Amino acid sequence: MLRIFFLLFPLFLLADSFITKDEYAKMLYQNPRGIGCHKCHGIEGRGMVIGKFKKDSNTTVVLRAPDITKLSYKKFQEALTASKHKLMPHYFLTKYEIKILYYYLKKRAK
Ligand code: HEC
Repeated sequence: MLRIFFLLFPLFLLADSFITKDEYAKMLYQNPRGIGCHKCHGIEGRGMVIGKFKKDSNTTVVLRAPDITKLSYKKFQEALTASKHKLMPHYFLTKYEIKILYYYLKKRAK
């Protein structure tokens, strides 16, 4: 019995050094092989103003990134695989990465 314990003990130590799903999800959100999602959608994914410019003397145009915490998975996935957006860059994420990002954002929905 004791021998088995000593054989298995190093495995517990190893398991401890892996990152959790939550840590991985946060990392990916901030570094998705391209500009981090948080730079436009905010760290909590609730959207924010990303820029303003004056179109003419009476008109100021406000550019916003939308709240992305309340979308259905279908919409979310479609947006991330669409090839053209007005402002958002195109990403090359795997199906698994899209799922992980969705998981991250669902946890932040209010
Ligand atoms: C440069 C700013 C910017 C970055 C970086 C960015 N987005 Fe966006 N995102 C936008 C804007 C702006 C829109 C609205 C559509 C448009 O104008 O392109 C949008 C739209 C979306 C939508 C669709 C929202 C809807 O209501 O249909 C999703 C989903 C999304 N972004 C997820 C992400 C994820 C996940 C990342 C990181 C991998 C990311 N975005 C990075 C600016 C950004």
